[in-house]
Amino acid sequence: MKVEDHPDPRWVAELAGRSLEAGTEAIAEAAAQLPLFRHLARKHREGGRPGYVEIDAPLELFALARLIRPREVVEVGVSSGVSSAYLLEALERNGRGRLHSIDLPKRNRPRSGRPTASWSLPEGKSPGWAIPKRLRHRWDLRIGDKRDLIPAVTSELDRIDLFLYDVPHRDRESQAEFRWVDRTFRSGSVAIADHGPGGELCTALRRWAGERGSEALQCQDLGLYGFRSA
Ligand SMILES: C[S@@+](CC[C@H](N)C(=O)[O-])C[C@H]1O[C@@H](n2cnc3c(N)ncnc32)[C@H](O)[C@@H]1O
Repeated sequence: MKVEDHPDPRWVAELAGRSLEAGTEAIAEAAAQLPLFRHLARKHREGGRPGYVEIDAPLELFALARLIRPREVVEVGVSSGVSSAYLLEALERNGRGRLHSIDLPKRNRPRSGRPTASWSLPEGKSPGWAIPKRLRHRWDLRIGDKRDLIPAVTSELDRIDLFLYDVPHRDRESQAEFRWVDRTFRSGSVAIADHGPGGELCTALRRWAGERGSEALQCQDLGLYGFRSA
């Protein structure tokens, strides 16, 4: 794991509907979470996975969750749990909220232990294995395919305030999945999708933002886009 170089307070401020000053302060608080960063980095070293493609913007996720103080957060794509841990740390500091995470894990190759994908799990690990125990009481992990679990989880919730989609995706299936999430969205709810390094905004998120009277904004030069529902 590496320290995030240039977090984007403007993106955070715009998604939260707050001032740039508030975004900058929240990012500074996120960057000060050094015990969490050190814990995650150590867990990755001990787990035999010093580097892999975790979310590019964990500080922005923390800052956003601090500013919008969500009651219900849903994320799709956990792997070792970097995004989950930063979101949970923010909920803990808010003193409220739950994180519902969905993941269909991929395992390393059994004999060689070599990764099948940058996010595949080392031997003996389960999704979110790097998340500190002290943060797990706000965490609801569901194991399975997003096609089944997005409808299941969204049907149980009366609202979603923050939705993170950090999972390989294709437009047709994303459109169907976003429709499920949209049923729980309200004014001020925020959706974010990661399209990988250098990835471009997918049609599904662009359309969903438009239907919600909004526009998907890019996080600095990352493949990460989000919108705030009007
Ligand atoms: C890029 S990783 C997520 C990284 C994570 N958010 C982080 O910050 O560390 C993508 C995750 O999506 C999961 N995944 C892939 N296909 C999936 C599917 N159809 N349903 C649910 N999860 C899936 C993978 O197992 C992997 O854990």
